[in-house]
Amino acid sequence: MSRFVCTLLLSLLLDVLVVFATTDDLNGEVKIEVLFMPQECTQKSKRGDLMNVHYDGYLAKDGTQFYCSRSDKTGHPQWFVLGVGQVIKGLDIGMADMCPGERRKITVPPGLAFGENGKDPVPPNATVIFEVELFSVSRGPRSLEAFKEIDVDKDRRLTKAEVKQYLKAEFEKRGEPRDEPVYEKIMADIFHKNDHDKDGLISPKEYNIYEHDEL
Ligand SMILES: *[C@@H]1O[C@H](CO)[C@@H](O)[C@H](O)[C@H]1NC(C)=O
Repeated sequence: MSRFVCTLLLSLLLDVLVVFATTDDLNGEVKIEVLFMPQECTQKSKRGDLMNVHYDGYLAKDGTQFYCSRSDKTGHPQWFVLGVGQVIKGLDIGMADMCPGERRKITVPPGLAFGENGKDPVPPNATVIFEVELFSVSRGPRSLEAFKEIDVDKDRRLTKAEVKQYLKAEFEKRGEPRDEPVYEKIMADIFHKNDHDKDGLISPKEYNIYEHDEL
């Protein structure tokens, strides 16, 4: 598959996707098969966690590969926040309670994938299969606790410096420090997806998809 298509699909998958109207026909359930389970599970993924994964997507009907994070130009695993619509619904559901190191085959009915219309090159009403490998899970950035922890100066706004400091500390705590460009890439992604008014700050409202009363 060409780089172009991969890149296209990457943005397609990582951008907020539409929730499709469901009909009975489209309304199947997500099927999860565990392909590999590590002996030790350090932290199971839950809604709001920052996930780092490789995933490859196939059409169920004939096995055609339509998405390939592994063969994407950088070959880096992808980042997204679980459970908030940054990936298709079926993956938000299918990647919950997953351990770092675990591999799963996730079969997603069209209603929880690309729907009645499909999304080129995925045809209409297509059941899709994702093979995913989870590399790391980190708490937040979506919990209230995380917001308070990130907001070092307690001004109820997250600056880039605050978010980056938090990210770095999280990775170092886990004994997995990363190179500077990796943090920069994650930061760019986080601000792109969350700083809706583009003022360079993440407000509680922009951050607060859980609608905590406390903020
Ligand atoms: C997709 O499924 C819906 C609901 O079953 C149906 O109405 C529609 O015609 C299908 N579209 C195609 C292109 O098969």
